[in-house]
Amino acid sequence: MTSSKIRLEPFESADAARLCAWIDSPRLLLQWSGQTFRLPFDVEQMAAHLHKSQTSGGAHQILRARETASGRVFGHVELVAIDRLHGNCRIGRVLIGPPDKRGQGLGKQLMAELLRMGFLELGLHRMELEVYDFNRVAIRCYESLGFRREGVRRECVRLGDEFWNSIWMAVLRREWNGAHSAGAAHERRAE
Ligand SMILES: CC(C)(COP(=O)(O)OP(=O)(O)OC[C@H]1O[C@@H](n2cnc3c(N)ncnc32)[C@H](O)[C@@H]1OP(=O)(O)O)[C@@H](O)C(=O)NCCC(=O)NCCS
Repeated sequence: MTSSKIRLEPFESADAARLCAWIDSPRLLLQWSGQTFRLPFDVEQMAAHLHKSQTSGGAHQILRARETASGRVFGHVELVAIDRLHGNCRIGRVLIGPPDKRGQGLGKQLMAELLRMGFLELGLHRMELEVYDFNRVAIRCYESLGFRREGVRRECVRLGDEFWNSIWMAVLRREWNGAHSAGAAHERRAE
């Protein structure tokens, strides 16, 4: 699970406290994880979530992202419901942290590496995800890597008085551009 700039590694229980510190509001918790967790998000909930993934027979992988050069952990992502028979999986809970690290290209590098891993290492045919329709940075990130919009779930979650719409997006192996590897994305940004 390596690229030149970043690598994805199995999430461990010792990572939970860092992850919880990155989730600093109810809005971000919902934006990041949908209906998975409840407030207050804490290490105990994450430990139960990790245990579930570890007993999923490989169908659910929780990953942390690390910068190869500095060794710093900067991200979180999950592959959910990996179905090897049909060659598909869902991507969930994409997060760059802490907050001041967002908008610097790390999300795109993380996702590029995840697609490389899914298509080349796991041999998947299709990878899909759900994103709230106001999350322009995330949508831009996914579209720039080849994801297409497939449908809308209208007003599917609630935060206070607001209902949020989500968009389903997916990318097929043949639509994925391997040139968008984490290394290539980083090099383009530096030009
Ligand atoms: C969504 C998220 C993972 C994206 O990662 P990121 O490191 O912030 O994004 P990047 O810097 O890689 O940018 C991705 C794209 O958005 C663009 N972008 C970045 N910040 C932007 C901004 N403030 N406004 C508009 N576009 C922006 C980038 O230019 C890039 O597009 P490009 O490939 O055309 O250049 C990250 O912002 C995050 O963790 N958000 C909070 C949790 C969340 O919403 N997760 C998604 C759940 S579906």
